[in-house]
Amino acid sequence: MTQEIKEVVWITGASSGIGRALALRMAKAGYRVAATARRQGELEALAREADGHVTPVAADTTDAASLQAAVTRIEETLGPIGIAVFCAGTYQALMGAELTAAKARPLFELNFMGTVNSLEAVLPGMLRRGKGRIAMVASLAGYFGLPTSAVYGASKAALINMAEALRPDLARSGIAVQIVNPGFVKTPLTDKNEFPMPFLMDPADAAEAFYRGLHSDRFEITFPRRFSLFLRVLQMLPYRLSLALTRLTVPKEKPDSATRVSRVA
Ligand SMILES: NC(=O)c1ccc[n+]([C@@H]2O[C@H](COP(=O)([O-])OP(=O)(O)OC[C@H]3O[C@@H](n4cnc5c(N)ncnc54)[C@H](OP(=O)(O)O)[C@@H]3O)[C@@H](O)[C@H]2O)c1
Repeated sequence: MTQEIKEVVWITGASSGIGRALALRMAKAGYRVAATARRQGELEALAREADGHVTPVAADTTDAASLQAAVTRIEETLGPIGIAVFCAGTYQALMGAELTAAKARPLFELNFMGTVNSLEAVLPGMLRRGKGRIAMVASLAGYFGLPTSAVYGASKAALINMAEALRPDLARSGIAVQIVNPGFVKTPLTDKNEFPMPFLMDPADAAEAFYRGLHSDRFEITFPRRFSLFLRVLQMLPYRLSLALTRLTVPKEKPDSATRVSRVA
């Protein structure tokens, strides 16, 4: 392990997938990493794999009080959080015919409000110190509404919009805000997908791109580039064309919620 940098990094959603791979990459670079998720056992396994350079701090991001306690513990034991990365999130496919508030609310509670809870926990300290970096993980699905992803995509579009609003605002206080828009990355979240996923990335490659982005001044960190470009073009087309294209991706059969697979990143 190289030890050139000693800043404290807090990563939520670190017990698996992208967050876990990033925690290992940051630890390898010499950062002191605090890893948050609900599964203590998975966080402890991560800490062992990182030779103790990762500290498990279990918390539920939908529970603001549990997050506040986690941040207090991290700052008392490791020091002030310099970089906060909010990865905790999930996907659930939902077709229009089955859309209810009861199904939409948990997705927004975790993907959007969980991120707001995390911001609320870390921001006062960063504002006091006049420095910090915050990266929020959204998705390329937040660029444009995609069939089966009405609620997931909306929760990610909300994150993109919030990050755009916070970037110039918090820059005045010395805090850099970044948005992270991944395409398909092989993780437990996408393992249930049964369709071919274009440009599917390995978590370690995703973590490398993520790591490089955190060390840049770019607002958006996105990978893989080619898929991101493709969806940017879709976003810029007239609705007549873009909606005709996304219509082609509507599942032919009425999906059964028990067996349906996710179709977007
Ligand atoms: N994989 C992709 O292709 C892809 C593409 C675009 C965007 N993303 C986004 O990237 C992020 C990470 O996804 P992933 O693919 O790495 O999925 P993953 O492997 O399922 O990881 C999700 C992480 O979130 C944590 N989490 C879930 N609910 C939580 C809660 N209430 N409190 C605290 N932690 C919670 C999980 O840990 P516990 O279960 O232990 O709590 C886990 O560590 C998500 O926001 C996802 O939307 C993923």
